[in-house]
Amino acid sequence: MSHTPLKLAVIIGSVREGRFGPVVASWFTEQARRHGSFEVDVIDLAEAHLPLDLPAVPPALDPNPPRPDGMAELTRRLDEADAFVIVTPDYNRSVPASLKAAIDWHFTQWNAKAIGFVGYSGASGGLLAIEHLRQIFNELNAHTVRNYVSFPRYYLLFDDEGTLLEPEEPAAAATSLLDQLHWWASALAAARSLEAMA
Ligand SMILES: Cc1cc2nc3c(=O)[nH]c(=O)nc-3n(C[C@H](O)[C@H](O)[C@H](O)COP(=O)(O)O)c2cc1C
Repeated sequence: MSHTPLKLAVIIGSVREGRFGPVVASWFTEQARRHGSFEVDVIDLAEAHLPLDLPAVPPALDPNPPRPDGMAELTRRLDEADAFVIVTPDYNRSVPASLKAAIDWHFTQWNAKAIGFVGYSGASGGLLAIEHLRQIFNELNAHTVRNYVSFPRYYLLFDDEGTLLEPEEPAAAATSLLDQLHWWASALAAARSLEAMA
């Protein structure tokens, strides 16, 4: 049995100037590193070129279409990951367009992998985006885990340095999410490698 740790990519889904996403991602990344069961990579979508004019052919017909040069690094890191945690706000009760574009530009990169969520926003705490993401990833044959972390009215929960005022409950939620994610990521990684050997 291999002891190589599974790879977790934490994805910062928002890209706008002045965004809060990196603060939440930084908090979660620290939780994931402390959890210790994954090798953690942090993917900032603001660093990728993510045009909205998608390839001419749908992904089911051409799963690896030509992509812009500025997307190559993103694609490579998505390919390498065994599991993902998407850090997302609600934008008009749904997913930021940057995140949807990153998802739509890829296909095999999501297939049979485990996905968890950390949400933040106003009253809805990212949960409306998360519910949409569950539907989207179902179409991509990914498994979304039940447990999540949500920060409703995040601006009341973090101080100006980005430190949580009351960290215990979110830390416990992050641990449950990471436990579930690791279980599913292990099962799916084993199933993918059996399939690759067949
Ligand atoms: C285009 C847009 C739409 C938004 N829609 C919602 C919303 O539907 N529900 C909500 O609670 N907050 C909403 N907000 C507030 C965001 O949750 C808040 O601005 C948050 O900081 C956005 O994440 P970001 O800073 O990482 O971009 C919206 C913000 C933007 C920019």
